Amino acid sequence: MGSGKGYGKTILFGEHFVVYGLPAIASALGSYTTAEVKVVNGKGWEVIDLRPATPDYKEKKYDEAMQSIKNVIEHMNIDVGCQKLEITFSGDLFAASGVGASAAQATSLARAINDSFTLMLDDEKINEAAYEGEKAYHGTPSGIDNTASTYGGLIWFVKNLNGGKNIMEVLQSPKKMLLVIANSGITASTTEVVSDVRKLKKAFPEKFEKIFSDYKALSKKAKEALLKSDDVSIGKLMNKNHELLQDITVSNEINDKLVEIAINNGALGAKLTGTGRGGLVIALARNEGIQENISKAIEMEGYETWKTMIG
Ligand code: MEV
Repeated sequence: MGSGKGYGKTILFGEHFVVYGLPAIASALGSYTTAEVKVVNGKGWEVIDLRPATPDYKEKKYDEAMQSIKNVIEHMNIDVGCQKLEITFSGDLFAASGVGASAAQATSLARAINDSFTLMLDDEKINEAAYEGEKAYHGTPSGIDNTASTYGGLIWFVKNLNGGKNIMEVLQSPKKMLLVIANSGITASTTEVVSDVRKLKKAFPEKFEKIFSDYKALSKKAKEALLKSDDVSIGKLMNKNHELLQDITVSNEINDKLVEIAINNGALGAKLTGTGRGGLVIALARNEGIQENISKAIEMEGYETWKTMIG
């Protein structure tokens, strides 16, 4: 039997923009998905999915999850014609849109297969296998989710649009940051939302050029602010990033409402994270008291929250 972990992630800056080669900043979360792979008699593979999840998440993502598992198994050249893989997913990462659940699943599976078959693959190869898995969920993933899930930590990521190596830089921020993650409860399709943005970009090239150039400037400032742990600036830049995400139509009423509640309850900044049109919102808190206030205010409105620390 073999096992492996894949971390959840939160994108602090640059979801969607990252697909077009602009820089994004993500942090791995402390929570992870675990995969266990047992080789038994038979052929093919069977999945037992014990991950905690948003109610309809597993149903909505079922086909994509199966394709993702197939992609990882095939990429890793595991012959399932004369042996069967019994794959069990569990762990404390709550599967929801926006938390990198798909990447965590693919990464944990790649690690578990690596362990089970003693393939001795390094992180770069694990990341490549997880990226293949991600293709089933995203169509054209930027690769930021599987990279954060594989390496952990706080990362600056730029996709290489020519197919070469992506840029990945580990950022060291001097202070930890307190976040509240709020769950809209809506599971969005990353493939659909990414494809809508692509269509809009084609239809309104000048508008998008301006938004992209604003985002590019923002991303540089965000990196500087993170390197100095300047939380006031980080918060303001998160708010601005949320506005740019609204401009490209990936926010929705609930995302905006959750951002507003967070800000009204003392958040330094808040934005949607990940795919958008539901999924998750993150809010930055200056101290634990404020983190608690934001979390309570959002829960009073009927939305689930998690408190976490990154950096
Ligand atoms: C999804 O977690 C992040 C997106 O930017 C898609 C991607 O990067 O592949 C929306």
